[in-house]
Amino acid sequence: MTGGAGRIRIAPSLLSCRFAELGREVREVDAAGAEWIHVDVMDGHFVPNITIGPLIADAVRGVTSRTVDVHLMIERPERYVAEFAEAGADVITVHAEASVHLHRTLDMIRGLGKRAGVALNPSTPLSAVEEVIDGIDMLLIMTVNPGFGGQAFIPQSVDRVARARALIESRRPGTIELQVDGGVDRSTAPMLVRAGATVLVAGSAIFGHPGGGAAGVRAIRAAVEGVSWKGGGG
Ligand code: DX5
Ligand code: ZN
Repeated sequence: MTGGAGRIRIAPSLLSCRFAELGREVREVDAAGAEWIHVDVMDGHFVPNITIGPLIADAVRGVTSRTVDVHLMIERPERYVAEFAEAGADVITVHAEASVHLHRTLDMIRGLGKRAGVALNPSTPLSAVEEVIDGIDMLLIMTVNPGFGGQAFIPQSVDRVARARALIESRRPGTIELQVDGGVDRSTAPMLVRAGATVLVAGSAIFGHPGGGAAGVRAIRAAVEGVSWKGGGG
């Protein structure tokens, strides 16, 4: 599903947008070429913060035809995947740490006709995804501890992304997106792409850009221009 080796997607995280201007913010990054729109759902249990639910995912769906990418940072996400599917999500990602019957949850997402992602916190071994790798469309490597926008990038993440890429290449070459989320900006994005990331989530670097969301998307795009996975042969 990568649609060509080395193709990088930019996924602005709405967590850092001006929520009172939600529609405008989404349209702006869409028009600037962001391929995915990243929606961060937090429940105050799995992570300390509380954000948004299916109503907002539905509102986002209504203003863009881009890929709506829902990142569930909630306990027992299986309770809500159907609602997010109904709201128009294209990709639904659950945390391996939050779903006891992860295999079943992923089946449920795919059964709803959606792409299924598994997210791993920085402290979770990569092996947590090995047994379900045949049933996923995306692996999300958290590059901060989830919960808030604007946190400092964890430097060890670059090596971790490289190891995640090696795992994907050994098991499902060319078929799984590798997403990174947290502290992604103009300086960290190129390292992450070189390590094998294909989907770059960025909140504060995009919506906090002095020139606005469109300028933020363009800045990240420019930073990864000509950069590719070092094992990608190009
Ligand atoms: C963190 C969220 C991220 C967050 C990223 O828990 O999953 O998507 O918005 O924000 P930045 O890019 O500011 O680190
Ligand atoms: Zn996220």
